[in-house]
Parts: sequence; structure tokens; C-alpha cells
Amino acid sequence: MRQAFLASVFLVSPVFAQINGDLAKPFHDHKVVRVTVEDQAQLDAVLKEADQLWSHRVGIGPVEVIVDTQSFDALRDMGFAPVTLVEDLQGMVDKERAEIDGRSILLDLEWFENYHPYDEVIAYNNGLAADFPDLASVSVIGESIQGRDIIAIEITGPGDRSDRPTVFFNGGQHAREWIGPAATTYFADRLLNLYADDGRVRGLLDKVVVKIVPIVNPDGYSYSWTNNRFWRKNRRDNGNGTRGVDLNRNWDINFGGQGASNDPDSDIYHGPFAFSEPETAAIRDYIFTDPNMVAHVDFHSFSQLILYPWGYTETLVPEPDYSFFVSFSQFLSDTILSVHGEFYTPQRGIDLYPASGICSDWTYSVGLKGWTIELRPNSSNPGFELPPGEIIPTGEENFEAILAIMDRFKDPIRLSFPDGEIDTAFDLEATTVRVQAEGLIDQIDGLSLEVRPDVSTGFVSIPMTDLGDGLYEADVPALSCGRSFEYYVAGLTTGGGDLRLPEDGDLDVGVISEVVTHEDDAETDLGWTVGDSGDTATTGIWNRMNPQATEAQPEDDNSPNGVNCWVTDGQAGGGLGDRDVDGGGTTLTSPAFDATVTGDWLSAESHISYARWYSNDRGAEPDSDHMPIHISNDGGNTWVELEDVTENRNAWVTKSFAIADPSDNMRLRIVARDDSPGSIVEAAIDDIRVLIRGCQYHPSDLNRDGTTDASDFFAFLDLFAASDPGADLDLNGTIDAGDFFAFLDLFADA
Ligand code: ARG
Ligand code: ZN
Repeated sequence: MRQAFLASVFLVSPVFAQINGDLAKPFHDHKVVRVTVEDQAQLDAVLKEADQLWSHRVGIGPVEVIVDTQSFDALRDMGFAPVTLVEDLQGMVDKERAEIDGRSILLDLEWFENYHPYDEVIAYNNGLAADFPDLASVSVIGESIQGRDIIAIEITGPGDRSDRPTVFFNGGQHAREWIGPAATTYFADRLLNLYADDGRVRGLLDKVVVKIVPIVNPDGYSYSWTNNRFWRKNRRDNGNGTRGVDLNRNWDINFGGQGASNDPDSDIYHGPFAFSEPETAAIRDYIFTDPNMVAHVDFHSFSQLILYPWGYTETLVPEPDYSFFVSFSQFLSDTILSVHGEFYTPQRGIDLYPASGICSDWTYSVGLKGWTIELRPNSSNPGFELPPGEIIPTGEENFEAILAIMDRFKDPIRLSFPDGEIDTAFDLEATTVRVQAEGLIDQIDGLSLEVRPDVSTGFVSIPMTDLGDGLYEADVPALSCGRSFEYYVAGLTTGGGDLRLPEDGDLDVGVISEVVTHEDDAETDLGWTVGDSGDTATTGIWNRMNPQATEAQPEDDNSPNGVNCWVTDGQAGGGLGDRDVDGGGTTLTSPAFDATVTGDWLSAESHISYARWYSNDRGAEPDSDHMPIHISNDGGNTWVELEDVTENRNAWVTKSFAIADPSDNMRLRIVARDDSPGSIVEAAIDDIRVLIRGCQYHPSDLNRDGTTDASDFFAFLDLFAASDPGADLDLNGTIDAGDFFAFLDLFADA
């Protein structure tokens, strides 16, 4: 289907013909160099000498620029010691053009094995809409200064789209960043071509509207093909002999502030006023026409970064947004990494360098979740000239990221369990279920906890209380040990949609009793051993103390009423790599403890639980070490692994494991390992407990005398007659015949 269309459109490319024939060689004798400037005067001198900026960053510190031989010498004579990044810039441009011209493959996905000039990108998007009329449409949302169309392609599954959130992606604010238009067009292509056969893509597109503007800056993009490969801005005639406004400084958010220039000649010239440019104004208006728009990514190149707000100020965005951006940007980075192993650094824009009036800050300021993603490559060489063979891999890894964004924003309202899913309830204690609702484009119109106790076939509905800030809660009434229930949360949105958490299935909860039989909060030393014959660590040896915070180590122990824990040298030291584990393993072994079941239990299981801290993602060579934790039931002769910790939470995490063969001579052993020299390893452990979990009474043994008999039957009748809530065994809110039969069931089961 795509083939016929493409073959007819792209066999002859007039733009190519023109370029190949007579384009001058403007970068003859030019290099890309990096210099480091110490103050504004030096920066001004460098910018005056240089032809164009290469780095996005302009400021005190390292700056990358394009210079000719003469300017190179001048910079050197001024004492800047320029470091050459690209020796022969024209050679690199010529090589890129030769490679682009040499690739004549035009069919289907192969279209993405090459870069394409403006007309071809637009034609390709039009072709997609023509091929998938039920899923896609292209509209012209504005016109550039020189009269070129700014187009958007909108993609969603068939059917009513009024209650679907919209996610918005754009490329090509900056002309020379050719991978932006290529990657965003790739997203459109994949969404449409995969819809029919890929359940994941179809499931998402049936819930989300995707809008893509592949080229925000058509004039600049065209100019980067025909005249100056490294043009960045639009082509505004500034009236003083200079051209171009940096569109990514022209948005109405801290307009004209740090990291933008009022010099029309500058590559980061912000323009006369916010939205002075038809290109930015068109995108603004396009965003404003869609009240359902919830998330946005502005694609750029290069550097492999996932940048979140703010880009212009050190002030953190308010919670819960800040935590969301931190964790979800990390998730996007992990998602991208998993495709081809390419790492994209998640960070705040301001932590890269300040930039004012940028697009993703503005989209965040008007209520969307906004990111800037800097695509491949990682390095200044080849910088903007990402080889065409990397378009598809770049597209692939970022396609996973946009699917992740679609998934995260696919619901008009998003429900989550802020305390995690509950799988255990406690004997005769009500269980509180809390739900966090995030209204993306709708609000909650009623939420209920649906509970099915073990004695019932159907679910009963318990309305949830609105605690404000999107938090809702309801209690599952107290049940006795040994019973169980299933639950899920159901609701309605103001837009008329159904809500359900979890999306499919129910959560199972067993009611148990729990008794702590051994407790070690590390406030005193109960007889631990530090060190083992195999240990080679030279620093970061386990000790017991009140830890001092570093970026990798806790400031507080885990016990609510304590200060101490076991930690791999709890002193902060002079720097992150100072007192962490170095040179091999350090072993910590607990004293012997008794994990046997004591007391009368119908059924019981011993568990070991502890709080652990592990950090191996700071510094160089992240995630290259591990921390095995073993347990022994023979005083330390033989060991069984409980877990091999690699999870980097940089936070206390409580873990609990059933003990397979509990004895009265158990030990726990933790080995913090540093096998890769560059990595930072910090670990800590606290609140080591043995818990006996199970039931001491059968649920029908109402009077808890150890046997189920006629006295329990009469005890139930008493509760029943008194309409005591304890008799509401089926949790339906009334004490009735159903509870009577439920009791008979439990009774028969004893
Ligand atoms: N490279 C882009 C630009 O200079 C991204 C800016 C990202 N934001 C930031 N605050 N650094 O326009
Ligand atoms: Zn850019």
C-alpha cells in the first residue's frame, strides 16, 4: 500500500538536483572547536570571532563553535587553546550529502534510511494520512514567514474521540537537527502501520489521540538543506542585515531571561516579543484548540537527554509534579536504554544550562507535562550530522518512549494505589484501601471499593470517601484470621467513562496474625560479626552507627525510635567516593537467632524481614555491583540466598521472606561487593525481625477457645441477635440470613 504511493512521489527529487549541482562550499576550511571561557568578556570575544555556535549551551564554561582557520588561529593567539572536535567540517558535510544522495531507497520503512527535504517530509505525512484515512488526518496549522505550510498529523483509533486524552510531539524547531523531523515522522509511520496487527499500539491508539508536528520551522529546515547545513533559527529578516529568531527562545515563559539573547545576530536570539514568530504562534494556537491535551515532547538533537522543567530557574516545579518528572523521566530513560542500549540522561533543563522562553517550559506552564528530548548522537562529532543509518534505531528507541507516554496518559482519569497493592490483612482489624486519582481530562464521579469476601459469590460495594487532593479511601471491615477477600476499585468519570483499578482481575487478600519473636533495631550490637576470610574491601567496611548522609547514603536509620543501623562506613567522608565500599567485598554476619514457631498456632510460617538501603547508581560505572544476602539455619555452616540486591532505591526498602527451614540457630549474612573499581557502593541494614505469620484460631472459633463447637454457634447467634457488625460475615452491611449461612459454611469448614 505504501509502496505505490511512495514510488510515484519520490522517484525524482528536484531539491536534490539543485543541491548537487551548484551549492557552494560554505564550510571549506572550517572546524568545530571547543573553548572554555572564564567570563563574559571572553565569551563575547569568542562569539565575535566564531562563525556559528555548535553547542546549544552558551555561557561561561565550555562552548563549541564553528570557526575558519583564521579565527582558529586568532582564538589560539588570544590564549583559548581551542580543542578541535571536527577537523574538516566541509568534508563532513560533503560526506553526509554523498551518503544521502547515494541512498535511493524510498519504499516504506526504507524511507527512514535517509533524510528528506521539507517537501518530501510533508508528502510522506500526507501519504500516511491517505493510506490510513480511518486513523489519520493531516491539517495545515499555520504558515511560516516565507509561506511554507506547518502541518500536523493527528492519529487515533476509530470511534468517539471526545473523551480521549491527547499527547503532542513535535520536531524541527531547530533547522539543523534533522533527526527531529525524521524521528517524529517515524512515530507516525509506526503508529499507523502497526495499528492493525500490534495489540499494544492498537490498545493505546484506541484510547489516546496522538498529534505530531514534524517540522515546526519549515523555512529554517529548508535553508539548512540548500544553504547552510548548520542553520538553527527561523528565517525572519531582522531588518538589520541579520536573519532568524531562535524559536526555542520565543515562547512566553520567562521570555528574554537567562540563556536567551537580545542580539538579532545570535543563534539564541529570542525575537522582539514572545510569540512574535508565526511558527511558535501557530503551535501555541494549535495546543489551545485541544482541551484534552495532556503531555508534550519537543524533540531536538543532539546529546541524548530527557529534560524536564524548569529550564530557566533553579526553583523546583511543585509537587507532585516534581517527583513525577523525576521518576517518569527515569522510566523513559530505562525504556529507551532497553531498546538498543543507548543511555539518555534524565535531568532538569536548568541543570544542563539555563534557557528562557523554551517550548517545553511553556507547555508545562499551560498545564501539560512537557519534556525536551535531545536525540542521538551523544557527542559533538558528528553532532547534528547523525548518520542516516541511525534514523531507524533512534526512531525505534524513542518510539518505545512515546508509547510509554501514551500509556501513562491514556486514561481520562488515572487511578493508582499510593501505598501499593494490599495482599495481607490482619486479624480483626479493618483494612484501609487508599486510591490516588489524577484527573487528566475528567473528574471523578463516584468511586467505590468492590469487595468479595470468601463466603460470598458476589461483590459488595463500599463507597470511597473523598479526602481531597484526589485521595480516596474506604475500609474493608475487620475479618478474623484465616478468612480472605478479593477487591478492586470501580468508578465513573464525569465524561461518562468507567474506571477500574486494577485494570483487569481482582486483588487477593488473606487475613493473618503476626507476632514478632526476634527484634534487632541495631541500636545496640546483639553480637554481629564484621568481616570474613574472603573480604578484600579496603574502605566502606560495615560498622554500626548513626549514618551521615551523602548522595548515596542515608542520613537516618530506618527505626522510628532509633538512630543507628549497620552501614558500609556510615561516615560521609570527603566525597561520594571517599568512604564507600572499595576493593572488593565486606561481610556482615548476624548473631544466631531463633526462628522457630513458639506458641499455639493452627498454621504458622516464620518470616525474616529487614530494612535495607542500597546505592550503586551514583558516580561512574553505575549498576555494576551487587549485594547478596544469605540466610543459614545451621549457625553459618551452610547458606541459602534470600536475594541478590541490585535494586537502587537510595532509600530504605523493607523486605520479608518466608523461612523454609526455621531453626533456633539462624544467621543472616550481607555482603556488600565492589567488584568494578569505578562504581560507588553504599549499603545499610536495619530492623532485622523474625515474624511468625499464621492463625491461632479458626474463623469459626468465635469465642477463641481453641475448638469449633456448639459454644461458637451460640456465640454467633448472640452477635446475630444483637445485630453486632461482627456477625456481618458477608460484609453486605446488614446482618441477615446470608450471614447465618456464611457462618454455617465456616463452621462446616472447621
Ligand atoms: N538544546 C535546546 C535549546 O537550546 C534545549 C534546551 C533545553 N533546556 C534547557 N534549559 N537547557 O533550545
Ligand atoms: Zn534544538
